[in-house]
Amino acid sequence: MSSRANKKPVHSESQEAGRQDKPGFAARKVAADILGNVVHKKRPLDGELDAGSGHSGFRSLAGNDRSLVRAIVGAALRHRGEISEILDRLLDRPIPEKTGRVLDILHVAIAQMLFLDVPDRAAVSLAVDHAGLDRRARPYKGLVNGVLRRLGRERDDITADLDSDILNTPDWLWESWKDGYGLETAGAIARAHRVEAALDLSIKSDPEAWADKLGGRIVGKGSVRLARKGAVDALEGFSEGAWWVQDVAAALPARLLGDVRGLKVADLCAAPGGKSAQLAAAGANVTSVDISKGRLKRLEENMSRLGLNVTTVASDIRTFEPEAPFDAVLLDAPCSATGTIRRHPDVAWIKKPYDIEKLSEIQKDLLDRVLSWVKPGGLIVYCTCSLETAEGEDQANAFLERQAGEIERVPVQAEEIGGLDHCVTEDGYLRCLPCHAAGSGAEDVGMDGFFAARFRRS
Ligand SMILES: C[S@@+](CC[C@H](N)C(=O)[O-])C[C@H]1O[C@@H](n2cnc3c(N)ncnc32)[C@H](O)[C@@H]1O
Repeated sequence: MSSRANKKPVHSESQEAGRQDKPGFAARKVAADILGNVVHKKRPLDGELDAGSGHSGFRSLAGNDRSLVRAIVGAALRHRGEISEILDRLLDRPIPEKTGRVLDILHVAIAQMLFLDVPDRAAVSLAVDHAGLDRRARPYKGLVNGVLRRLGRERDDITADLDSDILNTPDWLWESWKDGYGLETAGAIARAHRVEAALDLSIKSDPEAWADKLGGRIVGKGSVRLARKGAVDALEGFSEGAWWVQDVAAALPARLLGDVRGLKVADLCAAPGGKSAQLAAAGANVTSVDISKGRLKRLEENMSRLGLNVTTVASDIRTFEPEAPFDAVLLDAPCSATGTIRRHPDVAWIKKPYDIEKLSEIQKDLLDRVLSWVKPGGLIVYCTCSLETAEGEDQANAFLERQAGEIERVPVQAEEIGGLDHCVTEDGYLRCLPCHAAGSGAEDVGMDGFFAARFRRS
C-alpha cells in the first residue's frame, strides 16, 4: 500500500457524520442550498419550499426545521443587499468564484446573526461546519470563521450607516419605483418589503362575523386581516370552505366589475382562483381560463373546498375562442409580480428588466385579443400584481390610445374599494402599493402592489 493511500483524510467520515447530526445543521445546509438555487439558478422560492415537489432536503426536514429554513431564507432575501454590503466591509477582497457554497453559507449565517433570534455562537459554528463539509468551500473554513466572529464582535461599527432601502432593492427596481412614484414613496415601498405580510382572507359571506370568530379586523372592501401566523388549514372555517387566502389588494380588482349576479363573466388567467371565487361567490356564472393545467387543478380543488361552481378551460388566451361574448371580462395578466415582494422576497432577485419588456408585450397582446370577448357596453378589468408602471398605468394608457373609439375608461371610485382613496390615481386607476394602508388602524398598513384599470366596450 502506498504511503499516500495510508494518509487519513483531513475530515474523517465519523467527524463528518457527527457534524451533520448536530441539531440545526440540516436546516442551515438546506437554507444555504435553497438560497443558492434562488439567487444563482433563479428558481422561484415557492417551488423550492413546496411540500410535495420542492427541494428534497427541505422535504425530508421536520416541521420546526422547515419553519426555520423559511425564516432564514426569507430574512436572507429581504436583507440581501445589506448582507452583501456587510460582507464587502468585512472582506479584504471578494470571494473568488467556484468556491462552492461559501457565499451562501455566509449570507445564511449573517441573516441569522443580524435579523433572526439566533445566538451568534450557533450561527457561526454551524456555518463553519458547513464550510468544512463542502469540498470546494473547505479551504475557506477559516475565513468563514474569522469573518463571522468579527461581525459578532464589531457588529455596531460594521452595520453603521447602511442605507437599507437602497441596498435591499436591485438598482433597476429602485429606478423604476423612483420614476413611477417619487423618491420618498420608493423608500416607503422598500421599507414595507422588510416587513412580513399579514394573513388576509376573503370571506364567502358575512365578513364581520368571521372577523369576530377569527379575531381579525375588516380591511379594504370586506377582507379580514389576521395578525396571528400559523397553519392556515387549522383555522376555523377552512375545511367548511368559509374563506380563502387572498391579499386585501388582490381582492379589489374583481370588485370593479360591480354587481355581477347572474352575469356571464370570464376570469382570464384565473388560477389558482382567488378572483374566480370572489365572482362565483357574488353570483356570477364564471368561466375560468388558464394556460396551466396544474394550476387549474388547484383552482378546481379550491372551488370544491369552497363549494363554488365555475367552468374551467385549460387554454392559452392567445388561441382560445369563446363560443359567445361575455357580459364582463377580468384579465389578471401574467406579470413580473414585483407587487408581491413582501410575500415572495425572491422576486426582487429573480426578475430582470428584460422580463418586464417581454411581459408587457404579452399583456398588450392579451388586452387587444380579449376586447372582442365582451359584449358592447360590457366592462373589462385589466389588472397585474406589479409595481412597474410599464405593466400598469402605461399599459392601460396605451390600450386606450390603440383602441380609441372602441373603449372608454371607467374611473374607479374610492367607495367601491372600501374608501381607500389613496389607492385611486388621478386618472381613475386602482394603484395599491406595499406601503399603503388597507384600513385606519396601525396594524392595517401594508398590502400587495396591485394595478387595475376598468374599461367599457363601446
Ligand atoms: C397572476 S396569476 C393569476 C392569479 C389569479 N387570477 C388569481 O386571482 O388567483 C397569472 C396566471 O396567468 C396564467 N397565464 C399566463 N399566460 C397565460 C396565457 N397566455 N393564457 C392563459 N393563462 C395564462 C398563469 O398560468 C397564471 O396562472
